[in-house]
Formats: sequence, C-alpha cells, structure tokens
Amino acid sequence: MNPKQLVGEKATEHIKEGMIVGLGTGSTAYFAIMKIGEMVKNGLNIKGVPTSKATEELALSLNIPLLNISEVKKIDVTIDGADEYDSHKNLIKGGGGALLREKIIASITRFYVIIADKAKGCDILGDFAVPVEITPFAKEITINQLKALGCEPKFREKDGKLFITDNQNYITDCKFKEIKNPKELEAKMNAIPGVVENGLFVGMANLIISEDGEGGILQID
Ligand code: A5P
Repeated sequence: MNPKQLVGEKATEHIKEGMIVGLGTGSTAYFAIMKIGEMVKNGLNIKGVPTSKATEELALSLNIPLLNISEVKKIDVTIDGADEYDSHKNLIKGGGGALLREKIIASITRFYVIIADKAKGCDILGDFAVPVEITPFAKEITINQLKALGCEPKFREKDGKLFITDNQNYITDCKFKEIKNPKELEAKMNAIPGVVENGLFVGMANLIISEDGEGGILQID
C-alpha cells in the first residue's frame, strides 16, 4: 500500500462515533479523508471541520457532514499532514499554504494526529523552509523583518503570480539553517506586525504516525 494511504488510514482508527473531526490538507491527509468518507458511507456519524477550501470541496464530494467553524468550540480529533517533524513532535507545516486554518483548528483540538512519511522526520527542524502567512499590505517591510531573524525569505509563487492563501494573504517561505529553538522562533515571527501566522507548530501534536519504509507503522506519542 502507498505509505501515505497506510498512515492516513491508520490515523482514522482514532475516530469514534459522534466525534467532531478536523480534516487536514495535503496529499497525505487526502487518504485519511477518503477513508473517513468511506466510514461515513458505512454509517459512521461524525461532523468534519475542514482546514482549507480544497479539503472542504473534497469532504463535500464524499458527503462528509461539515460544521461551520463559527459553530465549533472544541474538536475531538484532527488528522493532518506535516512537512517536517522532530522527535519532540514539533512540526513545520504549510507546504500547501493552509497553515493559518490548520493552526487555528489544531489550537482547539483535543487529540491532534500528524501523518507523514518517515523521510519528513529530522533531529533539528529547518531543512524545510518555514511557510509564513503575511498581509499583502507592506509586504516588503514584513519580509525585511523576517530576514532580520536570520532567514532567507522568498515569496511563494503559483503560475507566475504571488500565491494567495484561502484568507487572501501571501506566503513567504523562510529558509533558516537550523531551528534550535522552535518555540522561541515561532513567537519572534508572530511578533512581527505583518505576520498573520507561521508554520511552526510547537507542542501541538499528540501523536505522529509515519511508516518504517517496509510497510510497517512507526508512532511517536
Ligand atoms: C498544508 O498547508 C500543509 O500543512 C500540509 O499538511 C503539509 O504540507 C503536508 O502535505 P503533504 O501531505 O502533501 O506532504
């Protein structure tokens, strides 16, 4: 089985009847959502909360009942992907540009499950550039302030234009050498006025499910 499908389906074992379920974004979360669609078709009663417009469309196409975010206070379990993770379950997320909604949903989730290829595991975060969502207003000032934190920021583009998030903002991918203190860096980036949110997810994940490269499952809890 495709490793993304393996970990995606494994994560759905945490979903129980009646739960409110956060639905992640990306090519790994896709397999979890497909499985949830099948479970719903077979009678499971849950309500989903999507982390992006793309996920919302996918969930609707599978007839997964959805809640509007304004109706939600707590989410029982969220299943989402990541771009990099360390052994303390700190993450870099936002490769798909959905980090703001993903982090809001993670922040009200009781049990946050991350599904990711083993290759995304690392000792120290930083190989993957940290996606940072910034306001279009004064973007040059914001990028200079990010640069002052020791990174090489690059505006994300799509089809030759600046990438626009679901929230009508831009993304800058900030390449640091090594992120020795992700908690401190997360706070420093968010202290910049033009930064809406950044893709460092520190102390949020409860469980990481990855595969061992030979068809088996590895978990960090
Ligand atoms: C979306 O913005 C991201 O946070 C994704 O969860 C992350 O990029 C992982 O995506 P893949 O599962 O496609 O690698």
